[in-house]
Amino acid sequence: MSLLHTELCDILEIKHPILQGGMGPYKTESLAIAVSNAGAMGVISSIGMAATLIPEAAPLDAVRLFGNDPPMVIMEKSIEAVTKATDGVFGVNVPVAAEFIPASKMFLEQVVASREASSDVERQLRVLITSAGNPEPWAEVKKHGLVWIHVVPSVYHAKKAEKSGADVIVASGHEGGAHVSWDPVHSMVLVPAVAKAVKTPVVGAGGFCDGASLAAAICLGAVGVQMGTRFIATKESDFEPVWKEAVIKREERQTLTGRGLFGPMRFIRNRRAEEIVEQTLADIPRFYLGEPVESNEAVLDLERDGFDNLMDGKEDTALMFGGECVGRIDDLPTVKELVNMIITEALSTLKNVTGLL
Ligand SMILES: Cc1cc2nc3c(=O)[nH]c(=O)nc-3n(C[C@H](O)[C@H](O)[C@H](O)COP(=O)(O)O)c2cc1C
Repeated sequence: MSLLHTELCDILEIKHPILQGGMGPYKTESLAIAVSNAGAMGVISSIGMAATLIPEAAPLDAVRLFGNDPPMVIMEKSIEAVTKATDGVFGVNVPVAAEFIPASKMFLEQVVASREASSDVERQLRVLITSAGNPEPWAEVKKHGLVWIHVVPSVYHAKKAEKSGADVIVASGHEGGAHVSWDPVHSMVLVPAVAKAVKTPVVGAGGFCDGASLAAAICLGAVGVQMGTRFIATKESDFEPVWKEAVIKREERQTLTGRGLFGPMRFIRNRRAEEIVEQTLADIPRFYLGEPVESNEAVLDLERDGFDNLMDGKEDTALMFGGECVGRIDDLPTVKELVNMIITEALSTLKNVTGLL
């Protein structure tokens, strides 16, 4: 198979310029293994692991999901498991929204400790991806020998990440799944704007799910893509069957944005997502009256109950995040089949385009 080689492949020492996005509430351990084995970069997700530390920010039954281990032990075991199951490079995602900072600092400490304890971990766990918050306090990531990737929703935030020293910037458009910005700037505008505004290599996220969209990201000035929603619908992904089916069945208009765990999120449309949006809209008068809506118990209750329903396989009331590209996904390949399909299609798309010259 021919390769699509970009600067991202050199920076991360990966074969294909594709990152798996961090995706709570799961550890995404199986997915990370499969993605790294396929020559792209798999990522362990920490947001769900933090649930017992900050229940108000991550309203889910972490014990039901991960067992009784404390968060640092869950992370330690997950790093060990991924290192053993792949020779590839992988990363860890930590959200750095204000609520998560204490947990994320602990996860970074665990990443550093695991790398110090094992030369295999040091060789393979090369990347920390920070997201959903201020990059400034996280430059220390690089002092530990890690490649530092930061996720941004705007040119303003990209410039801030560059100033803080990020090695790679992920420009995350509004069509993406889960955490999004309130400002609805989509990848078609965001990715080229960020690529023009910073010298740091840029990765596109939000809506990328196949070879045509990877080729488009390259044409827009990116060095690769980060995909979330597409990786949910793969054989190896850690997601519940009901979630995988929803990604496959839904059309492009069947996602909704509403108030989420820490800021707005894009949900896969079902009754629960509609209830969350209704509650989000009901909060608007309180917001304009200057009343505190930061800790909204009504939304948290819907989300807590939605996670339980997810585990019970209740499609209509399960809490599920997903991007608009649910409308472009209709199969359940293995990760390796998917990555190979994407690269093959991206190469032929780019060749066809140059044939127009
Ligand atoms: C189910 C789900 C959970 C996510 N959780 C996280 C997370 O914990 N941390 C994070 O940085 N991004 C998270 N994201 C965003 C992804 O990492 C990625 O940037 C996004 O999915 C890209 O857009 P796409 O869904 O169109 O591929 C999540 C996305 C989804 C779909």
